[in-house]
Amino acid sequence: MRQTGNNINITINKISVSYNDEGLNEAPVIIFIHGFPLNKSMWNKQLKALKDNYRVIAYDIRGHGKTDVGTLDFSIDLFVKDLLGFMDALKIKKTIICGLSMGGYIALNAIENHPERFTALILSDTNCTADTPEAKEKRMNTIQSIKENGVEKLANDLLPNLFAPESFITNSKEIVAVKEMIVNTTKESLYKSLNALANRKETCSKLEEIKVPVLILVGKEDKITPPEAAKAMHEKIDIALLSIINKAGHLSNLENPEEFNSHLKKFVDTIYQQK
Ligand code: MLT
Repeated sequence: MRQTGNNINITINKISVSYNDEGLNEAPVIIFIHGFPLNKSMWNKQLKALKDNYRVIAYDIRGHGKTDVGTLDFSIDLFVKDLLGFMDALKIKKTIICGLSMGGYIALNAIENHPERFTALILSDTNCTADTPEAKEKRMNTIQSIKENGVEKLANDLLPNLFAPESFITNSKEIVAVKEMIVNTTKESLYKSLNALANRKETCSKLEEIKVPVLILVGKEDKITPPEAAKAMHEKIDIALLSIINKAGHLSNLENPEEFNSHLKKFVDTIYQQK
């Protein structure tokens, strides 16, 4: 029996996973995967926009939000194993998957290795490349800085890269909410996630194998995964649409939800021929 609502718990791969499950029974499913080091609440506005026509689910990745950190080292492969376990537990054979940044790394890895489980893919503010040696070193320095200076400093360092400058004036509520998500992530999870991000494999060489419709969204002022990264992915995927979101940085779904949701809705409605 399906349970609907917010902060529902389910045991997957020996950890308790927290998720929101809203919208219609028997409707096409869309699963949303958040970025680092955030949580499922970053998708609230997308769930609200789509729940009248779809079944919409957002879950907290291992070690984020209200999901247990567990004992294992983190990797994108492990996050994909959790995603597949989650879909199995909820008896979801196929879904549309939407991932932002780290969520996009997970979605790309998942579709590469389990294409039969996905009907369409939405990649938001993400990239298919692996970390360069410099990027890996930066992540190790971040771990050291968290040990020395704490998580509040991490949040203050991350925020100017996550949001477009204008958002600090127009979206102060979102800035406060994102800061809270960051400072509420445990140090253990931050270290494990930074290692997972540093060690992830590239997925660019497999983009041509993706045969389902893909929507790529990116904030015009995204400094972490800029529009050039989105354009490079767009060129390699067979059936892909690309939309650049105005007045948005890396967290385009939070910074300009109206524009983000209109592209998202149009894309999924086209797939399911809804009006
Ligand atoms: C994210 O938003 O998930 C992170 O910025 C991803 C990354 O640091 O590569």
